[in-house]
This record gives sequence, C-alpha cells and structure tokens, in this order.
Amino acid sequence: MPEFMGAEQRRILHALDIDVWLPRHVVADAATEAGGSEVSPTADKDWPTLESAVSVCTQCLLHQTRKQTVFGDGDRGARWMIVGEAPGADEDRQGKPFVGKAGQMLNEMLRAVGLNRERVFIANILKCRPPNNRDPRVDEVASCMDFLRRQVALVQPQLIVAVGRIAAQHLLNEDKPVGQLRGRVHSFAGPEQSTPVVVTYHPAYLLRSPGQKRKAWEDLCLARSVCEVSGA
Ligand code: URA
Repeated sequence: MPEFMGAEQRRILHALDIDVWLPRHVVADAATEAGGSEVSPTADKDWPTLESAVSVCTQCLLHQTRKQTVFGDGDRGARWMIVGEAPGADEDRQGKPFVGKAGQMLNEMLRAVGLNRERVFIANILKCRPPNNRDPRVDEVASCMDFLRRQVALVQPQLIVAVGRIAAQHLLNEDKPVGQLRGRVHSFAGPEQSTPVVVTYHPAYLLRSPGQKRKAWEDLCLARSVCEVSGA
C-alpha cells in the first residue's frame, strides 16, 4: 500500500473528484481498511450512474410492459458473477433477479458448492421482463448487452457462471445448446479483460428436469476449480 498512496491521499483525490486507478491488490487492501468489499475506487460514482441509466432505459419496447427494471443484486466486489436470462413475473414485481422458484433453486445450487447468494453478484442478459416470459429478441439483447458489459467491468469477477441457453449463447456468441457448451471453460471478452465462463443449466430447467441436477453440480464444481470461493 505505502508504495502507491495512503488512505488520506486517496480521500483527498476522491474529494477533488479525481479518478484513481490502483492495482487490484491495493484496492483490496483499501477495501479491507475501510471494512468494505473489494470494489473499484471509481465504483462509487459508476454504479449509481449505471443503475440510473438502467432504471430509465427506453431503448427497446420492453419498457412499455415492465413494472420496473431489474438491475442486478449481490456483492459488487464478488469473485463469481451469475448471469441469467431475463426477469420473470416475480422479479418484475420485486425488482430483484432470481427471487421466484427458479431463484430458490439457484440458491440451492450455490449452497451445494458452499456459497450463499450474498457472496455473488447476480444479473441477467435483459433488465426488463419479456411479456409472458418469451425468449429475448435479438434487438432487445443488442440494446441491453452494454449494461451487462458495464456490470462485468465494474464487478471484475474472476468467473462468470452462465445459467441457461440464452445467457450462455449471448455471452459467448454461440448457437449451441447448453449440453454442448457445458463441461469446459469459455471466455467472455470484455472491453478491458476476458473473464472465464462456465455454462450450466437454468435453475427453472432443473425444476422441470431434476435428473439433470447432478450435471449442474458437476458444472459448479468445475466453476469452483476455476475460482475457489467460500462463504455459505
Ligand atoms: N430467470 C432468469 O433467467 N432470471 C431471473 O432473474 C429470474 C428467472
């Protein structure tokens, strides 16, 4: 830490509204000093800007039918980021991702590998609910994807877990089914860095096909081998 800059210097620069870029380990130390989680020093400004951009977005027609946007939820300094498809009815009502039955299954999946949902950051490809939970349209994904890219850039996760076909195909620019994408480590190319991606089944699919839970567990074990994290 001292070889870069002390907390007091950072506080002064912050007060002057001067962005400070620090190596990740220094940010971690600073966060520990402050008793918080590991987040970028510019994040204080960037998260609210991004959240408010999402909340007023009218770039596609889904804004006409949504009750509210669903930004994302969890630890903004998380090592694991979970990416799903789009909000459903429960999420649209509550404004948080994965809060319905699929959310309970996701929580169980995380618990199975020793994680609690507060330790990860959860977001979706789309921030608004498609009517009747239909698949996202290409133009909707194109309008919304930049929000997800910005979330990944802010969280800087060490791993993304893509749950379900829609999330996997759009993150990876692929058209293969989940069965062909799971079982290996892919990469999501962000503006500044690439992030490893592990694909698994969507929790809603696992509710319909419990016989596939074992494969999902294997996927999460693969994810854990890429980035060990604990905190149940
Ligand atoms: N399914 C998703 O893909 N995302 C949610 O937030 C809820 C259900």
